[in-house]
Amino acid sequence: MCGIFGVTGDKDTTELLIHGLKRMEYRGYDSSGICLNNEELIRKRAVGPLSNLEPLVVDLPDSKCGIAHTRWATHGAPTVENAHPHVSSELDVAVVHNGIIENEVELRNFLKSDDKELEFESETDSELVAHLLSKELKKINSKIKNITEDQILSSWKNVIDKLEGSYALAAVISGREDSILFARKFAPLILSHDGKRGLLASDVSCVVGLSESVFYLEEGDWGIIKDLGVKIFNIDGDTVELKPKKLEWELGDAELGGYPTFMLKEIYEQPRVVRDCLRGRLSRDKIKGVKIPYHPRLLRIVGCGTAYNAGLLARYYIEQLSKIPVILDHAHEFRYGAPSGPKSLVVGISQSGETADTLAAIDAAQERGYPTLGIVNVESSTIARNVDHIIGIRAGPEIGVASTKAFTGQVLGGLLIAMKLGQDSKNFHREDLSYFDRHARMLPTSMERMLNDQNIKTKLWEAQQYFSGKNHAFFLGRNTSYPIALEGALKLKEISYIHAEGYAGGELKHGPLALVEEGTPIVVIASEGSSHKKLLGNAREVSSRGAKVIFITHQEDELADSHADLVIKVPRTHDLLQPLMYNIICQLLSLNIAEERGCNVDRPRNLAKSVTVE
Ligand code: F6R
Repeated sequence: MCGIFGVTGDKDTTELLIHGLKRMEYRGYDSSGICLNNEELIRKRAVGPLSNLEPLVVDLPDSKCGIAHTRWATHGAPTVENAHPHVSSELDVAVVHNGIIENEVELRNFLKSDDKELEFESETDSELVAHLLSKELKKINSKIKNITEDQILSSWKNVIDKLEGSYALAAVISGREDSILFARKFAPLILSHDGKRGLLASDVSCVVGLSESVFYLEEGDWGIIKDLGVKIFNIDGDTVELKPKKLEWELGDAELGGYPTFMLKEIYEQPRVVRDCLRGRLSRDKIKGVKIPYHPRLLRIVGCGTAYNAGLLARYYIEQLSKIPVILDHAHEFRYGAPSGPKSLVVGISQSGETADTLAAIDAAQERGYPTLGIVNVESSTIARNVDHIIGIRAGPEIGVASTKAFTGQVLGGLLIAMKLGQDSKNFHREDLSYFDRHARMLPTSMERMLNDQNIKTKLWEAQQYFSGKNHAFFLGRNTSYPIALEGALKLKEISYIHAEGYAGGELKHGPLALVEEGTPIVVIASEGSSHKKLLGNAREVSSRGAKVIFITHQEDELADSHADLVIKVPRTHDLLQPLMYNIICQLLSLNIAEERGCNVDRPRNLAKSVTVE
């Protein structure tokens, strides 16, 4: 989704702004722009990839301050007029904005009532902020250079106070060549300052490599960043003394490191994610460092997309190991349901920690008085800061839009909760944990072996051929492989644009079977116990209708051989961990298919990495 970057106090401002925009490309965008803050504001904008903006900024004069934006269209089509930065009529203010101004109509009328001649250049809600600030400044003095900094700050506060909705904002004023005004509410914004250069960004990845520590603004914080320092105020206007925090991530995390795509890099990072996520938390006799507010009677899990799928697998694990019932909701549907009973616990799963729907579900849970737990990757994110306790999955930055390594971390986070509650309720015993621990320690090596197995690579290539020229595919699973079927289908559709659906095998005869025809590719993901045999039956059902069946299972499964056109076998591990191995095969299969179709796997069309609007 939209990204903001700002620089003050550096002689290479244009270069830095473009660098920041490139770092945010992964989030998804359809237009971009920059504004340099010199005696006059200099603005350049372009629709499409950053390569369309770059030629427009090559000959810009030196400047030591500027703001930049990547836009993902919400209010108005992706056009140059709607691209940020937006300026006031007299070009004295430029603004970049992430979020949604909900009282847009009232503000538009308010501005018009004062100035009937006022023309809006764009269809965006963001443009209004530039007009509002310009209007406030003019009330003080028509010559900006005669306005004091305190007056600028109070004008900015007056503007912010008028805004309803969500925003991360950065604004520059012509003639104030070292200053950027900022504000945040329900949208992320961070600052950094080394005494000479100030940076402001909506995304940590922009500042990785440029700064070692950052200020994480709180909801409602606002202020000014200049070449010499930062002034931060809270919603009441009181000065805030924020302590800089060390950046969680390093430069290598945000770079390809020799891989052709971030998606491939992140798939290959999964053995490391397992090691890091379980480090210090899992031992032979105890789950450590996993804080759960109380032993709940009911768990509610919320998440979106891949995080929801991880939540589904977590649900199976929690119910199986602790016997505590779990209700799983798409985060955006949670608020429509009835409140849970007493002693419920709400668990939000989110890689970015900024997904607006998940954030809103957490807020709703807190309003209803329930304790909340977050399974998050970005530990400085809004969700991480809003929940009562977090389990950080330690996956490192996930740059590819399609979530891969985060799924593995999210499932492990769910498993830790399941085992902890299982131990507390005496359903998961010390010997169970010790047995699990043995396998979990070997899992990264098994994953590495699988990722480098030539035979598996050949099988994946063969499987890929079944999708050639196809527009529809199915993924089937049962029990703990059902979430993998959903996730496999999600991955395939989002990066290859092949229509794919994940089904529980038992659902097949209740409708979807009608769609199976000669050559339909169907990926069947093995499950554990008695459900496996039923799944083999499902494979037969589709096979006898002409489908091409690809069975993903483990090396000890001999039954699958006679039930599929192609069987991909992966190393055997603990039943609770086996789905993670299968999921990696699905990720690789989707990636290969998408690349063969010429798709950009890191940046699929229409999608954004972090969905910060509801
Ligand atoms: C799919 C994908 C999305 C995200 C979803 C939630 O590959 O990446 O479905 O999983 O948008 O995002 P987070 O986990 O950041 O809340």
